[in-house]
Amino acid sequence: MDLLLMCPFLFTLMLSKGSFADLQKQRVDSGLEIYKKLFEVKRKDQMNALKNLVELNDVNQQYKIIDIMLKGLFKVLEDSRAVLIAADVPPDGPFPQDEKLKDAYSHVVENTAFFGDVVLRFPKIVHHYFDRNSNWNNLIRWGIGFCNLTGVFEQGPHSHVLGLMAQELGISEKSPDYRNPFKTDHSEFFPGADTFQKALREEEKRRKKEEKRKEIRKGPRISRSQSDL
Ligand SMILES: *[C@@H]1O[C@H](CO)[C@@H](O)[C@H](O)[C@H]1NC(C)=O
Repeated sequence: MDLLLMCPFLFTLMLSKGSFADLQKQRVDSGLEIYKKLFEVKRKDQMNALKNLVELNDVNQQYKIIDIMLKGLFKVLEDSRAVLIAADVPPDGPFPQDEKLKDAYSHVVENTAFFGDVVLRFPKIVHHYFDRNSNWNNLIRWGIGFCNLTGVFEQGPHSHVLGLMAQELGISEKSPDYRNPFKTDHSEFFPGADTFQKALREEEKRRKKEEKRKEIRKGPRISRSQSDL
């Protein structure tokens, strides 16, 4: 399962190598048009991976997979941001021609979009990990800002994902008519919505208990604070 979910990341690499081979012959700005087509292919793979994750119907597994997935995703985002910033690649400039920069650019665009899907479909699970991680918050703020300027999200089916994820994550203010498009219609994704909600609540309870246990086990902390007195 994990492997299947990682496929989108592998696909990115493979696609960006082959299909850009004859890019050199073309004008620079057509690079972006070519990339937009690749992005569509990539999105389909991501949607399939996400569908598999939803259909798992096992909250415990979903927590575990999303945990692993997000760690990988944000690592890629962090590394890619470093590459783009070091090379001074502006999001609204011409599409980069250098292989390394192209990879970094597409990783940022694709991982940001995919994170948007994940947070909209699994808001509770993602908030569980995201809300306590200020580094992730900084990274995704930067990612959303970058993507917004690329033009890749301007039209078509992905034009809403940046705005929706920013609101869901509390990065931009929720507009009064904001609603998570996947929240109202669980039935499409979760055949047994009630069962799912119940399992989710139980899994959350279990996790809270586990965290409390961990805190209690950190014995030295207590003795240290006592000796401080
Ligand atoms: C994208 O940029 C536009 C124009 O600057 C801005 O109005 C909008 O809020 C931005 N969207 C996000 C999700 O940041």
